[in-house]
Amino acid sequence: MFKISDDIYWTGYIDWDLRNFHGYSTPSGSTYNAYLILDDSPTLIDTVKHYGYDEMFSRIRQLVDPSKIRYIISNHTEMDHSGSIGKLLEHAPKAEVVCSPKGAEGLKRHFKKDWKFKVVNTKDTLNIGKRALSFFLTPMVHWPDSMATYSAAEKILFPNDAFGQHYASEKRFADEAGLDIVFKEAAKYYANIVMPYGAQVLKALEALKTLKIEMICPSHGFIWRRPRDIAKIVSLYEKWANYRSENNAVIVYDTMWHSTEKAAQKIYELMQEQGISAKLSSLKTNDISDIITEVMNASCFIAGSPILNNKIFPSVGGFLTYLKGLKPKNKIGFTFGSYGWSKIGFKELEDSLKEAGIELISEGQYFQYIPDENELGQLKEPVLKIKDRMRI
Ligand code: FEO
Repeated sequence: MFKISDDIYWTGYIDWDLRNFHGYSTPSGSTYNAYLILDDSPTLIDTVKHYGYDEMFSRIRQLVDPSKIRYIISNHTEMDHSGSIGKLLEHAPKAEVVCSPKGAEGLKRHFKKDWKFKVVNTKDTLNIGKRALSFFLTPMVHWPDSMATYSAAEKILFPNDAFGQHYASEKRFADEAGLDIVFKEAAKYYANIVMPYGAQVLKALEALKTLKIEMICPSHGFIWRRPRDIAKIVSLYEKWANYRSENNAVIVYDTMWHSTEKAAQKIYELMQEQGISAKLSSLKTNDISDIITEVMNASCFIAGSPILNNKIFPSVGGFLTYLKGLKPKNKIGFTFGSYGWSKIGFKELEDSLKEAGIELISEGQYFQYIPDENELGQLKEPVLKIKDRMRI
């Protein structure tokens, strides 16, 4: 039994085997957090992915007769949280589904059912007995339907995906787990799921400042309950939403015959000589969701590709498509690569970086077949420009 607070229980599902969440690598699995409030009107906040239903249902049944559930709050339509609402309603026929206006639209599109919806807006309250719950719409953090639920009685915020992390564990609280890992996973979560919506995150944080918060119960991973951890995760969200990063560089590349790799290593070497903190990330060995997290935290992004069939390498193209969608801001960089007989594909490389919002501070550096040491020396010029902009 996972008791969160008086009369509030975690009734979610631990997804130990999850290794990929719509393209995001999850080497440590995840959890889908559902929370049951035992009040005069028993209320469930969010459900779990469809295959976690039995486990969630069994947890609920140990605490309350499911037919007594009066409200199922759906903070977010995505199926990792709403996927079990339909099945649960079969055992909770009196329950109303509480959601935002966009949530009702989304749930109807997903389930094709005319459930009893109770549509709420920001600052609406729902009296469930000894406590009243209030709601805050948080559109595009990270879907149009997203909202947060707040219980003033315990000062608990249920913000759904926000402040979450993909991590399967027997522990429920962040301070019971290794905090370094929890913050690292929270950064990866933000970079891959929330990064495009900085302006909306800032708006949501502004609204949440009006609340006293003693616990944050997200829909994935660990619960934040210590004041210093809550302060830290909120301040990290402020930092990420303002697109602030560290003064370092990430060199992302793939290679065909090791020429682009040679150039990548030379850039890294030159950066070390100039005192620029840098990381090499090969697309052959690193998952794009990990690289994106490094890119979010870096002020400089450098991309390298070989040319194949007049185009950039497919892995580089795929990564840049992902990056463009995540819309990073406030980054400088340049491009490099190797080619056989035509440089035409590098335009796509440069255009992709520009489209992703990266400011190119130098001409692209491209090498025919195999670059020699002398040719690689030309990489010093863009590296010095980066050093200058970083004010190192
Ligand atoms: Fe965890 Fe947007 O769903």
